Amino acid sequence: MKTLFFLLLLCSLSLTLPTLSHATTAYPSVPGTASADCSFSDGDTAPLIPPRHEVYGNGRIFDITHRITTAMPSYFSPDGVLGQFLWLPHSMKNGSIANMSVFKLPTHTGTHVDSPGHFFDHYLDAGFDVDTLDLEVLNGPALLVDVPRDKNITAEVMKSLNIPKGVGRVLFRTLNTDRRLMFKNQFDTSYVGFMKDGAKWLVENTDIKLVGIDYLSVAAFDDLITSHLVFLASREIILVEALKLDDIQPGIYSVHCLPLRLQGAEGSPIRCILIK
Ligand SMILES: *[C@@H]1O[C@H](CO)[C@@H](O)[C@H](O)[C@H]1NC(C)=O
Ligand SMILES: *[C@@H]1O[C@H](CO)[C@@H](O)[C@H](O)[C@H]1NC(C)=O
Ligand SMILES: *[C@@H]1O[C@H](CO)[C@@H](O)[C@H](O)[C@H]1NC(C)=O
Repeated sequence: MKTLFFLLLLCSLSLTLPTLSHATTAYPSVPGTASADCSFSDGDTAPLIPPRHEVYGNGRIFDITHRITTAMPSYFSPDGVLGQFLWLPHSMKNGSIANMSVFKLPTHTGTHVDSPGHFFDHYLDAGFDVDTLDLEVLNGPALLVDVPRDKNITAEVMKSLNIPKGVGRVLFRTLNTDRRLMFKNQFDTSYVGFMKDGAKWLVENTDIKLVGIDYLSVAAFDDLITSHLVFLASREIILVEALKLDDIQPGIYSVHCLPLRLQGAEGSPIRCILIK
């Protein structure tokens, strides 16, 4: 145990060396990543330390997906926290030839996408599930913007952002990121999101087709249903929720988001990255 501690200490010290890439020092605030990029080569005595990155390729690729953990907040569980989602029915320790686990998740867990069927029952009946979402909307140039921290996203706020016509994908970073709401293990209804008039303003005055936000819902809790209805009615806008936008400069990136092809599902966990 002592040896392990010593190696981890060495490892974290080496992270501060200037010769190391940006990748190891970015996202200092994201838990679970301190020992990334440390490898040991002295054989049997070295602990195996799996790499866990938030940034790849010398600061070129940002993982904006939250790690799914038992302690992450959840909209759906009665106590507001996800809890156990992974089991290992076939384990090598118990004689299986391989480890093989199963998981069970609400489809709107962590970083996820909503399909039109989420709030429109007739769309779900008609088959507008996550498998029907347009990958061209989910992949392409995107703007990361900071939203004023003192309000929910109203029409006035949307107007003040001055997002040019022609911008098709916007990731809205809000007070939710500053408050580290996705790292708390309790769902918090005071998160920032779109008010109905903000959603309406976006639909009527911009060309935005991908709306990304940094907590579990794009809609503020007080306008939960109405804002979703405004966004999803046309089936042209795709909502990506609970993005991890910590420590990234605002600006233009290429976003890449890929939902699972869950037939019949109105939501899906999604992996999203930004490329500079
Ligand atoms: C394999 O299963 C064992 C338990 O039998 C577990 O401790 C280990 O972490 C598993 N390995 C992987 C790669 O999941
Ligand atoms: C292995 O099997 C034992 C007895 O059936 C059980 O108590 C234990 O939890 C199992 N361990 C794993 C890692 O599945
Ligand atoms: C945003 O709205 C929620 C209710 O939906 C509220 O609790 C919260 O305080 C508001 N946030 C700001 C910054 O006004």
